[in-house]
Amino acid sequence: MRADEIRSRFLDYFARQGHAVRPSSSLVPADDPTLLFTNAGMVQFKKVFLGMEDPGFRRAATSQKCVRAGGKHNHLEQVGVTARHHTFFEMLGNFSFGDYFKRDAIRFAWELLTEEFGIPRERLWVTVHYTDDEADQLWREIAGVKPERIFRLGDKDNFWQMADTGPCGPCSEIHFDLRPEGRRGTEVGQEEFEEAGERGGFLEIWNLVFMQYDRDADGNLTPLPAPSIDTGMGLERLASVLQGVPSNYLTDLFTDIIAAAVETVGVPYEYDSPQGVSYRVLADHARATAFLLADGVFPSNEGRGYVLRRILRRAVRHAYLLGRREPTLVLVVESVIDRMGTAYPELLGRREYIDRNTRAEEERFLATVDGGMRRFDEIAPEGGSGTVAGRDVFRLYDTFGFPPDLTELMAGERGYAVEGEGFETELGGAR
Ligand code: GLY
Repeated sequence: MRADEIRSRFLDYFARQGHAVRPSSSLVPADDPTLLFTNAGMVQFKKVFLGMEDPGFRRAATSQKCVRAGGKHNHLEQVGVTARHHTFFEMLGNFSFGDYFKRDAIRFAWELLTEEFGIPRERLWVTVHYTDDEADQLWREIAGVKPERIFRLGDKDNFWQMADTGPCGPCSEIHFDLRPEGRRGTEVGQEEFEEAGERGGFLEIWNLVFMQYDRDADGNLTPLPAPSIDTGMGLERLASVLQGVPSNYLTDLFTDIIAAAVETVGVPYEYDSPQGVSYRVLADHARATAFLLADGVFPSNEGRGYVLRRILRRAVRHAYLLGRREPTLVLVVESVIDRMGTAYPELLGRREYIDRNTRAEEERFLATVDGGMRRFDEIAPEGGSGTVAGRDVFRLYDTFGFPPDLTELMAGERGYAVEGEGFETELGGAR
């Protein structure tokens, strides 16, 4: 099942259950200083959960554009290296604003996964917050999940909040058993489940948040006007499950884009190779770049614009590692617009603007990247070890436009540490 069909079937299912299907909101949260980027489906409904806004419906479903590249939820460091992390991704979600609560949220999720999408029940496991007897009981009663397949975890895994403040609540996650054939389906204890989860043996696919509180800046929890539901399921992960592939990057959401990058660069794509990582970074960052530009974020030296600049420059560096010395990302961005423009028409509407700005930013960085890479080789020669001084991090930034986190990443790849404070001192002195 292609990802486009998965997205539509999700939304159609919830439309049939009386949900208003709403468009994704912008990646730039409207009027919300607590958040850099929209990082979950519930962001556009934050005021509705808080009882400050009446949207005219009490159930909704969306496929929401999300960026997790800064702030509380940040995936930037892991992109390309793991099978699951992205700076940009789509989150499928259903929402209840004081309408249904745990019982129906569990019923809908189970029915959609096992009947609509046909995922075998014996491959699904669930977790609940350790205090949540009700959810534990409902999973047994409604879905027939065996008690030994329900684990009770703490706040780290089973309490969800969008940011340090705002709507939040205990949650329940559905996990897909990805262990090797033979082990699959066999019972495990909680500790083993958590360990296997860390290694990718269990994949969290859907998070059902039982929204009940508003957290203030002092950490106090005030009950929301009405218990509500907020769920989030990454389309990329669900596509990997339904397409039977072990990495999100092997789903059709990425294969066309990676193919376009391979065609441009000309170096073969092997999944388990440094080139493989570079291609995946290019594909991921091309998606983030296209969508951020479409939503009006402009590369700059602060705030959201700086996150975009860092993403763009990381992508250029990977194209450089693949041997490219001319604009490349812009061509990958083009394939993102082709691939995703039907689902997100704003990409088509701003194609020329997205292309122009990606190319300009790429050209600007390409003009200095060569010198910066040579300088970096002198500072942190391959095979060496030690610490990169803060003043060098600053010089790479000031003279060659290398964002400090890029230098840190490159240093880390070669086994060097980076001096924490020197950069800030030099930056302060230069101001
Ligand atoms: N808001 C639910 C999630 O992001 O998992």
